[in-house]
Amino acid sequence: MAWGARLGALLQPGDLVCLYGEIGSGKTTLTKGIVQGVGGIAKEAVTSPTFTLLHIYQGRFPVYHFDLFRIGSLEELEEIGYREYFQGDGICIVEWTEKGEEILPLERLDIFLSFGEREEERKIILKPQGERFRHLCRQLGGKG
Ligand SMILES: Nc1ncnc2c1ncn2[C@@H]1O[C@H](COP(=O)(O)OP(=O)(O)OP(=O)(O)O)[C@@H](O)[C@H]1O
Ligand SMILES: [Mg+2]
Repeated sequence: MAWGARLGALLQPGDLVCLYGEIGSGKTTLTKGIVQGVGGIAKEAVTSPTFTLLHIYQGRFPVYHFDLFRIGSLEELEEIGYREYFQGDGICIVEWTEKGEEILPLERLDIFLSFGEREEERKIILKPQGERFRHLCRQLGGKG
């Protein structure tokens, strides 16, 4: 949560963060931290027939949190007009990136989450794609 909040404070509208990691590795928890860092307040949900595909947090600017875990086909994303969300006024965070790989923009911050040795421990690996996100990682204190 704390590290996510640090990242969230550095994000700007137009940024895309793509999360990878198995079930329970902490993708949703990290997203909540990021939302806190952006300064998100209210929340609404955009649902697909069987699950909540998109949570929208309206804060300093909008945060669009896509969870592709139960997506049946990429048409579900077309139906909600996903392109608009990626071109714009807010930041996008994607959970279960694997399921949307074909249509997601390539310039983004990839984050790989995995379990550590202890139950309460997680590992975070950052893979910036493009200059904007390399810059962001340097701001976070990485070596680039
Ligand atoms: N960095 C962390 N350190 C310790 N525990 C964590 C961390 N991140 C998440 N957890 C705990 O792990 C559990 C699963 O977290 P979370 O729901 O965020 O995972 P997820 O990757 O979104 O899972 P899913 O793939 O099911 O959506 C929760 O109980 C959460 O409190
Ligand atoms: Mg989750």
